[in-house]
Amino acid sequence: MKFFIDTANLDEIREAMDLGILDGVTTNPSLMAKEGIKGEENIRKHYTDICEIVDGDVSAEVIATDFEGIIREAEELAALHPQIVVKVPMIKDGVKAIKYLSSKGIKTNCTLVFSTGQAILAAKAGATYVSPFIGRLDDISTDGVELVAQIVDIYRYYDFDTQVLAASIRHTMHIPQCAEAGADVVTCPLKPIMGLLKHPLTDIGLEKFLADHGK
Ligand code: G3P
Repeated sequence: MKFFIDTANLDEIREAMDLGILDGVTTNPSLMAKEGIKGEENIRKHYTDICEIVDGDVSAEVIATDFEGIIREAEELAALHPQIVVKVPMIKDGVKAIKYLSSKGIKTNCTLVFSTGQAILAAKAGATYVSPFIGRLDDISTDGVELVAQIVDIYRYYDFDTQVLAASIRHTMHIPQCAEAGADVVTCPLKPIMGLLKHPLTDIGLEKFLADHGK
């Protein structure tokens, strides 16, 4: 299972890289705004800065919602760096654009996916990744991890190449749950990743080993 970090914060990306477990980065317009990155030029420079830190796929989201606009933006984003994956929303023109971009060899991440039906469309269109948003489903009393498991089953059954990228991860337990569900990738902020390290018995055990060594 690959680990992506879901942030546009360069320090967080560096910290996750430093841990040695990072396989890629996902961003979205809200995450870019959170870092105060504004204007076409600054946004594009920020994407290339991220690509230079991380050795793996970096998702950059289009703003256009019409077919021509999505293609234009996607081609510009893809030309920025070979690691760029173009994030395209799950809408009608988005599906058409994913089909076109995959035929041109441009990698895509189909975002804002909340159902198995949407995930089937993304795979049929040839998306490199599909992003079910599990936290946002949990927010409305629907099991987000269950959706990941269902998409994984369908993709395996039909041998689709699209990778299931579990997104909108809100807490540490979502990560092992998505691993059990068979997600190819999890993307989340640094905090839930760091939570994986924690176990009180590890701390107690280490304290005792160090104390015994000192005797
Ligand atoms: O990048 C998409 C996704 O991970 C957003 O997460 O927490 O805003 O639902 P969240």
